[in-house]
Amino acid sequence: MSTQHSKNIVWHESVVSKQDRQKQKGHKSVILWFTGLSGAGKSTLANALDLYLHQKGLTSYVLDGDNVRHGLNKGLGFSEEDRKENIRRIGEVSKLFLDAGTIVSTAFISPFRQDRDQVRQLVEDGEFIEIYVKCSLEKCELRDPKGLYKKARSGEIPEFTGISSPYEEPLNPEVLVETDQLSIEGSIQKVIAYLVEAGIVGTEIINSNNG
Ligand code: ADX
Repeated sequence: MSTQHSKNIVWHESVVSKQDRQKQKGHKSVILWFTGLSGAGKSTLANALDLYLHQKGLTSYVLDGDNVRHGLNKGLGFSEEDRKENIRRIGEVSKLFLDAGTIVSTAFISPFRQDRDQVRQLVEDGEFIEIYVKCSLEKCELRDPKGLYKKARSGEIPEFTGISSPYEEPLNPEVLVETDQLSIEGSIQKVIAYLVEAGIVGTEIINSNNG
């Protein structure tokens, strides 16, 4: 890409700060970075959590792999280089959501540790929360919600994560959810507990026994 374009561009500080926006909304903004194999449940959990937070009156949003690849990242494939660029762009977009005071959940395989760590380094301490959506390859393959594992096994899809392309597990994720053991509700409650404990949201978002 040409560097010519960025020569005469000067960074403008926002007049309304991230802190101003967070104060108005009554909660901090963070990136909830869901990572895991295809079919592990990233999108399902990110969307279930988004609905929960939205219904509690918080400002949240989901950036989803399959959807973003239809628009912003149309044209990127699944080579190591393209996945890297995919995650880099999503990292930058997530940062904009963070600045806008939003709790943004991202649901991308993001198979490479270095790419995930790069996003972590883009933001301040505590703003990047890595959620490892862990599920065995065997179970993901059994679920095969989009029929892609079958195609990957037959060689119809090359470089498929878990089959012919690697997935590097998070070494120290903030939250671990094992979706072959926990329900959707149980999984999102684990994330919510983390958000409350870390002081990102108030305790009032926890459901009482009678709902
Ligand atoms: S990532 O590796 O760059 O983070 P991303 O989350 O955007 O991947 O997209 C993954 C989704 O694309 C999968 O859930 C699946 O539906 C689809 N897909 C198509 N081809 C592949 C492939 N070769 N490897 C993994 N996922 C693929």
